[in-house]
Amino acid sequence: MKKIIGKLKKLVFGHVSILIVLLCIVPLFFVGGGLFRGVEIEQAPMEQEDLIVVGVSQLGSESGWRSAHTLSIQDALTKDAGYFLILNNARQMQENQIKAIRGFISQRVDYIVFAPVIESGWETVLREAKDAEIPVIIIDRMVDVRDESLYTTWIGTDTKEEGKKAGRWLERYLRKMGRASEEINIVVLQGTLGSTAELGRTKGFCEIAEYHDNWHILEQRTGDFTATRGKEVMWDMLRRHEDIDILVSQNDDMTMGAIEAMQEAGISFGEYGAVTVISFDAIYDALELVKKGWINVDIECNPVQGAYIDKIIQRLERGEPVEKSYVVEENVFTKENVEKFMDDRTY
Ligand code: AHR
Repeated sequence: MKKIIGKLKKLVFGHVSILIVLLCIVPLFFVGGGLFRGVEIEQAPMEQEDLIVVGVSQLGSESGWRSAHTLSIQDALTKDAGYFLILNNARQMQENQIKAIRGFISQRVDYIVFAPVIESGWETVLREAKDAEIPVIIIDRMVDVRDESLYTTWIGTDTKEEGKKAGRWLERYLRKMGRASEEINIVVLQGTLGSTAELGRTKGFCEIAEYHDNWHILEQRTGDFTATRGKEVMWDMLRRHEDIDILVSQNDDMTMGAIEAMQEAGISFGEYGAVTVISFDAIYDALELVKKGWINVDIECNPVQGAYIDKIIQRLERGEPVEKSYVVEENVFTKENVEKFMDDRTY
């Protein structure tokens, strides 16, 4: 028995001493090799050392536009282009975005890129990123902060101008149809309340509407930028208002939901219908509907922002200055011009 216990002791102590030696020696191999940084960034192991590590917090995957936006980031920030991309989907929740950004800070990424779901509530986390000296690039929507030094730059669309374009198109359309002085009833499907896309489009359209005493906005309600909510809210609005002339829908997904609701309710729409449809985004599937005359006009919101992020990071890497904001180019699509743009459309 004593013999067996003795053998066991030898075995155990033998292994423990090997373990102690290993624990002392192994870190020596990595001192100065930057491994600690590699260990902290779980997704960026040692062989990624030469890559620029970018943490991206995408706000969600609510729409076709959003998928195109995410894809454009993935297409631009590739390993071949010199990036290690950590992409996080916040599923429409600000607290998830804040968590993701804090994660990027503790991982010591080189850049933080994020598309804020709403405008308010970012001050604290952005200050944490600034204190950690990590440049922040805001994309798509904007943040409402007093101190602009909390972020490096912003890339996005002029959503207020998009709203105005919708209003100006409606002015021209009513004139062309000889209805400029008729009483016009309008319903608005808004995007996520408090988001730049909702705030800008609502404000821009209302600014034009204010010039027209005969334009009546019967109701503005959020459909959260999704087809399902768009359909539900449109159903309800059709039930509550008999005489809708114009639907302004702040994205294509809600428009598609609203079209389903109108079809089911037996309400005609589009070029030859009772309800004129104004949509935003101009994703391929919606442009098909413009071509068919189901959507009268689609105000583009350009999701191709990945190449801008790449360019800006490359500038910052070279120590060159960048602008405080970059606004991407956008178009307006109607049946008259849509076909010539559809061939090149990848989303
Ligand atoms: O912020 C851009 C908007 O967000 C797009 O219009 C919409 O489709 C998306 O969800």
